[in-house]
Amino acid sequence: MCGIVAYIGQKEAYPILIKGLKRLEYRGYDSAGIALLDQGELKIYKKQGKVAILEEFAADKNCEGKVGIGHTRWATHGLPNDTNSHPHFSENKDIALIHNGIIENYNVLKEELEHRGHKFISETDTEVLVHLIDDIRKREKVSLAEAVRMALLSVTGAYAIVVISKDNPNQLVAARKSSPLVVGIGKENEYYLASDATPIVEYTKQVVYLNDEEIAVVDLNEGFKIVHLSNQEKTPYVQQLEMNLEALEKGGFEHFMLKEIFEQPRSIHDCFRGRLNVEQGWVSLGGLKEYEQKLVNAERIVMVACGTSWHACLVGEYLIEDLARINVEVEYASEFRYRNPIIGEDDIVIAVSQSGETADTLAALELAKSKGATILGICNVVGSSISRITDAGSYTHAGPEIGVASTKAFTAQVTILTLLTLFLAHKKGTISQSAFQSMLCDLEAIPDQVKRILENDPKIKEISAIYKDVRNALYLGRGSSFPVALEGALKLKEISYIHAEGYPAAEMKHGPIALIDEEMPVVVIATKGTSYEKVVSNIQEVKARKGRIIAIVTEGDRQVKELADHVIEIPETNQYLVPLLATIPLQLLSYHISVMRGCNVDQPRNLAKSVTVE
Ligand code: F6R
Repeated sequence: MCGIVAYIGQKEAYPILIKGLKRLEYRGYDSAGIALLDQGELKIYKKQGKVAILEEFAADKNCEGKVGIGHTRWATHGLPNDTNSHPHFSENKDIALIHNGIIENYNVLKEELEHRGHKFISETDTEVLVHLIDDIRKREKVSLAEAVRMALLSVTGAYAIVVISKDNPNQLVAARKSSPLVVGIGKENEYYLASDATPIVEYTKQVVYLNDEEIAVVDLNEGFKIVHLSNQEKTPYVQQLEMNLEALEKGGFEHFMLKEIFEQPRSIHDCFRGRLNVEQGWVSLGGLKEYEQKLVNAERIVMVACGTSWHACLVGEYLIEDLARINVEVEYASEFRYRNPIIGEDDIVIAVSQSGETADTLAALELAKSKGATILGICNVVGSSISRITDAGSYTHAGPEIGVASTKAFTAQVTILTLLTLFLAHKKGTISQSAFQSMLCDLEAIPDQVKRILENDPKIKEISAIYKDVRNALYLGRGSSFPVALEGALKLKEISYIHAEGYPAAEMKHGPIALIDEEMPVVVIATKGTSYEKVVSNIQEVKARKGRIIAIVTEGDRQVKELADHVIEIPETNQYLVPLLATIPLQLLSYHISVMRGCNVDQPRNLAKSVTVE
C-alpha cells in the first residue's frame, strides 16, 4: 500500500525523500507528496501520479529544509487527485502528516471535529487524523508526541504515520499499528523513517522496527525514544540491516520484473543453501527447529495466504499431502478470517507471504493465535510484521522483490515448502530413503535447470509476439501443475490486462471448453509424470475445437509436440519439482506480452506490492 519516508538531520531532506519515494513507489503510485520544514515554514508539494511528476513539479520550487516527510499513495479513501494526496495539513497548517493504512472510525472523529469548527478539504481519513492531533495539542496543551499518543487512543484501524510540526523543528513523531514502519539511525545525529528499509539502506544499516502501538520520537536534541500507546517507555531494539543497495537497482535489466525472473537460479539456491545436504542426506529448516516435532505429529496443517502466495500454498498442499501424508488445508486469508474457522490448540497455521505485511494474512494469523493454534510464517521480508508475530518461521531469502508481480518470491516459497515436505516425509518415514535422496539431488539441480530455461527466453519472446493481442487465455495443469496454471494466468492478467483463467485440465470439459475456438490460446503444462497421458487427452480435446496450444513440455517430448502449436521445453526433473521449472516460462510469457502491449510491467494499474489494507 502507501509508502512513507521521512528524514531529520544535517543534510538537505528533499533529495533523500525523492529518492526514497522512488524506492517505495512499488507500494503505490496514485500520487506522491512531500512536506519540508525550513526556517519555521512548513511547505507541502504534492501531485497526482508518479514520483517523477512530483519531481518535475518541484523542480522550480525552493525545496529546502533539513527535515521532511514524503508519501507515495495507493488510494483508499477518496480519488487519486492532488487534494487527496499526502501529506495533509492541520487546520492552521502547523502540522503535516503522512499515513499508510485506514482510519476506520474517521467519520465519527470527523463529525466531532466539524462540530468544533474544523474544515476539511480532502475526502481522506488521514486529514481527520492530523486535525485531531492538532486539536488535542491545542486543547490539552500537551507536547506533539503526547497529542499523537492521545489521538491514536481514539483511533480504530491501521496506521503507520509520521508527523512534522512547525513548533518542533528538531523533531519527527511516528507511530504504527498493523502497518510497517522502520527507523534508521544515521551516523551524524540524523534519523530516517520509512515503510520498509529500502529508502534507508543507502545511508545506514542500523535500524529499529517499530512494534504495533509504538510511537517513535526522533529529536535532534534529545535523541530517539519509543513510547507505547499505554505511555510506557520502551527500549529500542537496534538491528543490523542485511540488505545491499544493488538488490534495489535494476542492474542493467529493463524492468525489475525481468531482473527478478532472471535472478531465480540464485534466489532458489539462496533459499535452500545450508538447509539441505545431499552427501549427508538431510534437510533442515533452522527457524522451525522448535516446532519440528509438533509438525511431524500434526494431524493437519492449515495454510493461509493471498494471491501468488496462495498459489505457492496449493503447490505445498500437493507435496505435503502426497509425500508426508499430513492433511493440508489451504485458505484465502481474507475468507478464513471472517468465517469462524474450526481451529484449536493442536492446529498449525502457516502463513505464506512475500511482504510479510498483507493485512488479511496477518489478521488470519491473529485469529488462529487467539484460538490457541501454533502460528508459523514463510516470509521474504526480514523483520516484517508476519515474521514478528509468528511463533517461528523460515525466511525465503529471495532478496527484495520490487516488481509488483511476484516472481522469484513464488519460486522461493515453493522451495521452502518443498524442503518442509522433504523434512516431514523423511522424519515420518513416508518417503523411501532412495526417493528422498534422489529428490534432494533433483532439488539441488534446479537452479542450473532454471538457468537453461532462461536461455530459451528469445523463443518465449517470439511466442509472446504471436499472442500479444489476444483478449482471453486459458491455463491448464493437473496435480501440482494446476496451481502453476493459476499462477501463470494471474501473471498474465495483472501485468498485461488480458483476461486469463487457470483450471485443472480435466475441469475444462465441465464448462470452460465452451470458450474454446480458434481465437483462444490455451497454455498447458504437459510435462512427464503420472498425469501426462491424461493431459495429452485434454490437449486433444482443445485441438478438436481449434484452440491454439502453447505447451510446457519435458525436454525431448514428442507426443505433445505433434499436437501443440508451440512447445516450450523444460529440463526433466522429479514430478514434484516441476512447479519450480514450469513457472519460469509462464513468467517470461506474461512479461514479454506486457512489454509488447505497452503496459507498465513493474507497476501495473490499480495494484500495489504490499496490501496492508483489507
Ligand atoms: C501477484 C502478487 C499478489 C501477492 C499478494 C500477497 O503477483 O504479487 O497476488 O502475492 O498480494 O502478497 P504477499 O505475498 O506479500 O502476502
